[in-house]
Amino acid sequence: MWPYPRTLAHRGGGTLAPENTIAALRCGLAHGYRAVEFDVMLAQDGVPVVVHDVELGRTVAGSGSIPDYTAEQLAAMDAGTWFGPEFAGEGVPAFDAVVAYCKAQGIWMNIEIKPAPGHEVRTGEVVARLTRQHFASGGQLPLLSSFSIAALEAARTAAPELARGWLVEELPENWLAQARELDVVAIHCDHTPLTREQVQLVKEAGFGVFCYTVNTPERASELLGWGVDGFCTDRIDIIPAG
Ligand code: G3P
Ligand code: MG
Repeated sequence: MWPYPRTLAHRGGGTLAPENTIAALRCGLAHGYRAVEFDVMLAQDGVPVVVHDVELGRTVAGSGSIPDYTAEQLAAMDAGTWFGPEFAGEGVPAFDAVVAYCKAQGIWMNIEIKPAPGHEVRTGEVVARLTRQHFASGGQLPLLSSFSIAALEAARTAAPELARGWLVEELPENWLAQARELDVVAIHCDHTPLTREQVQLVKEAGFGVFCYTVNTPERASELLGWGVDGFCTDRIDIIPAG
């Protein structure tokens, strides 16, 4: 049901490094994390890049939005200084570069498909197709996930062999029918409103339960005690990898 690591570094290195950068992955590794979650969006030229926000400004210096720039332009931008001057020069990495780094370092990936609005189908398709190519010669397959149902459906069509997780904030009324229809292996829930009873129901129905974003060891223990299979955390410094 959940043949994956239990503890994942959120956005590469949690809150200890600039999110969704190669520096974040390096930081995760330094804390013993060989499993990560990161976000993928398409640049203007259709090349996927690793970034969370559609709009520039919070983590990437500049203005406009990700679909306004090519992947090459984004790679040359500054996605590190907002976090600390020592990270100046960290660009928005191409998805390919991040996958290559993770494969080389033995880091398992939960790839969150995070489409800019209007790009759901194409993003799901491209991310699934490229992921398939990266793992054509072997390796533990990543888990794709998304809040976007259209992106999950497109990923399934493009590479049905890649397992998928469905991201939700709160478990909706129709979760069972929707999860079956999407043919996902797990439901990825915000842990805040989640109840023990919901975890039991989802697991009894045969799906894995993954939680985001769990930042205290006490809450992590509680959720694992409920039967939660895995979670991502920003606090890779106080929650041990595993
Ligand atoms: O994939 C889990 C989590 O990352 C979802 O929320 O906004 O941090 O991408 P967000
Ligand atoms: Mg994410």
